[in-house]
Amino acid sequence: MSTNNLDRLAGEGLQAASGHLPDVELLTRLANEFFSALPNTSAPPSMAAAPALEIPAFPADHPNVENSAAQPDIPLRFESELNALFVPGKDIPLSLSGVTNTVANTSSALAAITAPRQTPALLPFPSTAGVFPYPSTIPLPFEDELRTLLPPVQEVPLPYAGLPVAPNPGSSFYFLDSVTSPAADGPVAEFASAHPAFDVNAIRRDFPILKELVNGRPLIWLDNAATTQKPQSVIDRLSYFYQHENSNIHRAAHELAARATDAYEEARKKAGRFLNAPSADEIVFVRGTTEGINLVAQSWGRQHISAGDEIVISWLEHHANIVPWQQLCNEKGAILRVAPVDDQGQILLDEYQKLLNSHTKLVAFSQVSNALGTITPAQEMIAMAHRVGARVLVDGAQSVSHMRVDVQQLDCDWFVFSGHKVFAPTGIGALFGKADLLNAMQPWQGGGNMIQDVTFEKTTFHAAPARFEAGTGNIADAVGLGAAIDYVQRIGIDNISRYEHQLLVYATRGLSSIPGLRLIGTAAEKAGVLSFVLQGFSSEEVGTALNREGIAVRAGHHCAQPILRRFGLETTVRPSLAFYNTCADVDFLIAALHRIQGGRASF
Ligand code: ALA
Repeated sequence: MSTNNLDRLAGEGLQAASGHLPDVELLTRLANEFFSALPNTSAPPSMAAAPALEIPAFPADHPNVENSAAQPDIPLRFESELNALFVPGKDIPLSLSGVTNTVANTSSALAAITAPRQTPALLPFPSTAGVFPYPSTIPLPFEDELRTLLPPVQEVPLPYAGLPVAPNPGSSFYFLDSVTSPAADGPVAEFASAHPAFDVNAIRRDFPILKELVNGRPLIWLDNAATTQKPQSVIDRLSYFYQHENSNIHRAAHELAARATDAYEEARKKAGRFLNAPSADEIVFVRGTTEGINLVAQSWGRQHISAGDEIVISWLEHHANIVPWQQLCNEKGAILRVAPVDDQGQILLDEYQKLLNSHTKLVAFSQVSNALGTITPAQEMIAMAHRVGARVLVDGAQSVSHMRVDVQQLDCDWFVFSGHKVFAPTGIGALFGKADLLNAMQPWQGGGNMIQDVTFEKTTFHAAPARFEAGTGNIADAVGLGAAIDYVQRIGIDNISRYEHQLLVYATRGLSSIPGLRLIGTAAEKAGVLSFVLQGFSSEEVGTALNREGIAVRAGHHCAQPILRRFGLETTVRPSLAFYNTCADVDFLIAALHRIQGGRASF
């Protein structure tokens, strides 16, 4: 815009403003002219329709933009990758999971990809009492398109190839069993779902942070194993607590103390039902998984572990499920034994069995590996440990957001999880422990709240859970955890498992298409995690390049150095999924990795 024009517009505005109120129509026209004249601005905002300050909108060509189905002509960002993959006019044989198709010359692939996109039809709400009404395969947007992208590389065995979505009777996908045969009532029916349908676009609108721009691009959050994002209902619940309920709990006989206490104890009940614990008294609020494990090590462990005793963990463990036991063993002269894994990252049950004996006092392992995504055969491992009289702690940090957990079915002695991995705030988590066990354990921290009576000579303690909640706890965030559990329940944990399973299969296929990419962790049963290394690039370089495109993944050792070293590595790149991720997120990741691999990304 020339200086003259700017001067003219400013002059008209000043004239309009002198002597009487500014004319809205004139201001609108001036603003429109002004914005039209700015470089790269084709669509002037309408002042009449829009507020003065607008939050930047998504770039219109992003597939995650609401109603993207209504924008059929969006060019996909990996069009150039496609062109590079196909020789014009020449069909290419493509082998996928043992099925060989002749697919896609460039023009047919492009036609498929740029065809109007349909939002998958809404699926019916599952009945809580009948057969799960979903089709056996949820149609995924872009799946066919992605298939056409895959170059004819060597066939990569896919962990889920051929696996029916509905579980086989013998499947250890026990967390899906209730989908096909839900109980008529009780906790299983309650969790069977209360959401009208699994509509990922509707779900995404519940998470305000998913509208963030990062480096000018819409955020693609694939760091869910590190922490999950929070739905508006959780954010609102925290705000409501501080506006209407905030008080310390249990101590005062005033209205707000009663409200805060009710909200806190209600959250405990929700956490108990979430795990199908027999009683809310078996739920201890802790800061997170790490604190829960340390509580058991410092309380039960110091009481019951002696010199020569053995503690068994697995090679998959997060440092939080290694270090506290190592510290305890060092203090007591006990021995730490480690169950090995195979090259897919699955625990070798025969080797695990060999480690169990009459000296084994405790077994502690993860239900889902944070570094590889392996789902361990928890129920079987617990039963094996119980046969030698050992107690069992299950680290559920990475499982609770992906699959149904039933501590009664598992029959574990303790189960620990972190709220922030299941859409709740940080700084809150829960430890389930069997009631008799918790009440026989000594408190590990002393202070207010956990006592029945104190004299200078002696203190008597409350029963569980209060005996383990010394001092003022994280009241508001416990309430937030309750809201997060409500949210997950509304969607339905089985719906989440099913959707994420499909997304994991989709992402595994996509990653397998990238030359030089090695997936670390290819267990037959996995949840949510896709660790990999890319030949020629450090994990940090890949993470940095992805970040430049607004894609958040963790690159590093994931607080699980032993398992990465088992695969000869110090670090991996780790995209990790949640139910608000989409096939479009995966498409962007794959396209960006193709660019990195092809030397076309900036670092
Ligand atoms: N435990 C978290 C992770 O795996 C921090 O990234």
